[in-house]
Amino acid sequence: MKHRLEQSTKALSTLIEKRGNKFYPQFHLAAPAGWLNDPNGLIYHDGLYHAFYQHHPYSQDWGPMHWGHATSTDMIHWQHQPIALAPGDDYDKSGCFSGSAISHEGKLYLFYTGHNWLADEGDDSQIYEAQCVAISEDGIHFEKKGIVLEPPKGYMHFRDPKVWYQEGKWWMVVGARDEKDQGQVLLFSSDTLFVEGQQWNNDYTVLGKTDDKNVYMWECPDFFPISQENEFAIVFSPQGKRAEGYQYRNLFQSGALIGKWAPNQPFKLQGHFIELDNGHDYYAPQSFTTPDGRRVSMGWMDMWNSPMPSKSEFWSGCFTLPREITFDKSKNRLRMIPVKEVESLRQEKQTIQPLTLSNQSIELINNTSAIELNLTLSLDSLAEKFGLWLGEGLELFVDNQSHRLVLNRHYPQHNISGARSIPLPEGCELNLRIFIDRSSIEIFVNKGEFTFSSRYYDQQDIQTLRLFAINGDATLINGEYWQLNSIY
Ligand code: FRU
Repeated sequence: MKHRLEQSTKALSTLIEKRGNKFYPQFHLAAPAGWLNDPNGLIYHDGLYHAFYQHHPYSQDWGPMHWGHATSTDMIHWQHQPIALAPGDDYDKSGCFSGSAISHEGKLYLFYTGHNWLADEGDDSQIYEAQCVAISEDGIHFEKKGIVLEPPKGYMHFRDPKVWYQEGKWWMVVGARDEKDQGQVLLFSSDTLFVEGQQWNNDYTVLGKTDDKNVYMWECPDFFPISQENEFAIVFSPQGKRAEGYQYRNLFQSGALIGKWAPNQPFKLQGHFIELDNGHDYYAPQSFTTPDGRRVSMGWMDMWNSPMPSKSEFWSGCFTLPREITFDKSKNRLRMIPVKEVESLRQEKQTIQPLTLSNQSIELINNTSAIELNLTLSLDSLAEKFGLWLGEGLELFVDNQSHRLVLNRHYPQHNISGARSIPLPEGCELNLRIFIDRSSIEIFVNKGEFTFSSRYYDQQDIQTLRLFAINGDATLINGEYWQLNSIY
């Protein structure tokens, strides 16, 4: 692998020299150049947070997958590290696909999918996928050890291992597609994490499977406890689900199933699939635990097959902010808020005075290129439509006719447009905590009851943020914002 790592590092440095910055994030993790998709191997190991990612260092487009790598002391300020994995061995000829990390006895283990096209490149009907491992002593340089888990009979699409330790055993969930082209997540276990020359037993149970005949694959499964009462969430990214009214509007979605589970018992489902995020760009989230016991998740803030204007700057793809996940038992759903560490980016606090707008708009902030904004709006407002305009093509507003909070994008020059929305939360106040970066917006509604993650691509270099009310009055109860420091 050494030679291929050297080659890819060289290719990446050429791209870094060409990389543009108009859309490049100031406080979200992105590859230094080239392509990035799923978060991989998120972990706290030996005093540092590690984030790996699906990476193509040769261009801004998806290609043979490498694992990019960054480390951090606080999950916010990231330092790029050398590329961790390059594909091309017998078992990962066509790519080192997604997976997870384990910190064990001082070493860092990466579990990933060795992807192999058996016919033409890109021909998904003939592939071989097996779970592989790579090990590091120093947390930076990895030695590949080959396959640790072969696909059970009948499974060709078999990828994205997530490994954890519980009650004396190692467990692994893997995303799969069965012989009838239905999405599933398979569960494996092993007494040992890794023994040279030995594989995990590939006897499995089906932890979860689709009840929607259109769903042909579950990618990137994650499985973790959400309460002290054996409640667990399976978070995964189904492919094939069709849009239904306001839901499932992205090409693929990511969401959760909640239920009860204990080792050697089936997963007892409580409820149905709920999307984790309601924006245009959110996929393949992965979670890990912090030393103080928080469950934190990051997702890929993009969507497959969508236009990515940053490609003109020789990079594409970034992560969401790290978000703490909690379980809201009363609503039987997960909530996400940014980890408290993001507050370290704040410059001086700016207060926005309460105000009522009547059929007008005013400028709130004249340069939003790196901003955290916290607004409380009255839901008693009678305006037909009120909220925020960002730059030339983004609006976030309460639609008092449909009773929904809507995030709408309109960038015809990039062929990007369309709205995502959520029902208005109960109560008479709407709290919006908003993070605006150079080409992304994340919105946390009512302390994480709902979130939106979307990319935006303005022609102008500087965007202004305006508050507006159309056909009636709207009241801002209070507001504050901070310019944020760059993490780079
Ligand atoms: C999800 C995914 C994974 C796969 C990886 C390939 O976005 O399709 O299933 O491992 O991306 O880059």
